[in-house]
Amino acid sequence: MTADFLTPLNHPTAQRRGVRLLLWRDDLLNPALPGNKARKLKHNILQAKTEGHTRLLTFGGAYSNHLAAVATAGRLYEFETIGLVRGEEHQPLNPTLARCAADGMQLHYLDRTTYRRRAEPGFLAEMQLQFGPAYPLPEGGTNALALRGVAELIGELRQHTDFSAVAVAAGTGGTLAGLTLGLAEAAYPARAVGIAALKGADFLRAAVDELLAATGCVGGQYELHTGYHFGGYAKLPAELRAFIWQFEADYGVLLDPIYTGKLLFGVLDLIEKGHFAPGSTVVAVHTGGLQAWAGFEGIKNLE
Ligand SMILES: Cc1ncc(COP(=O)(O)O)c(C=O)c1O
Repeated sequence: MTADFLTPLNHPTAQRRGVRLLLWRDDLLNPALPGNKARKLKHNILQAKTEGHTRLLTFGGAYSNHLAAVATAGRLYEFETIGLVRGEEHQPLNPTLARCAADGMQLHYLDRTTYRRRAEPGFLAEMQLQFGPAYPLPEGGTNALALRGVAELIGELRQHTDFSAVAVAAGTGGTLAGLTLGLAEAAYPARAVGIAALKGADFLRAAVDELLAATGCVGGQYELHTGYHFGGYAKLPAELRAFIWQFEADYGVLLDPIYTGKLLFGVLDLIEKGHFAPGSTVVAVHTGGLQAWAGFEGIKNLE
């Protein structure tokens, strides 16, 4: 991997505060499964093959990057895929679900009450009765094996730079937990910083703690910031839009509307507020998600 994956962001805010800000382009790593998707799926796919599975079954909302990634992984690694989608079917399919279908995913819709039962014991068995034996992947692809794949990023980063903090957007918290695991296992003295994309995401701390406990991780250091949700999951208010366009104009890097736009906005605001000591190096991870723009069609033309 070349150093092009690590881009210095000479932002005036970072310069003023004496912080070295770098962008890790995980979005460029694997064009078919960009960002955290390939990392979260890697050990799960290996496990599914080891267990002799021929089918993957997973869950997600109608705009889920994870559903799209599983559909692609199924095509690439020769699994049938079943996507259980929250809510009702809407035709024509939105761009994310259309891409899932084009990759061969069978889509089934679960009403919201049924969908809420997805973590209950017995629910998966019911689904397998209905759809046949399958390797189950939880919502967002977040499980202990996913953390293992994300943790590998720490070693890759360290080949290129020292750093004091590595920052990532948080949805289910799996990527944040994986980075925390990687830091703890390497006993590397940096902290993982999560910027929540969802509103009211304080519950994520318990989820991250539980995930870390499931991998036997002790002493992992992370922090979660919940004040940069911009109104919620798929909200894209004018301030965030303007930030994303300006970032693209300044650095030639497009951020996504749901996760990484909020990540960079949050990291720069934290730098501005003196959250990172002068002299520290902060690496923000671009986790991809750019196909989500297809669901915000026309917005750029309206500006
Ligand atoms: C582009 C992008 N970044 C970050 C995340 C957050 O990942 P996690 O659910 O592991 O917190 C996601 C989740 O889907 C994503 O699609």
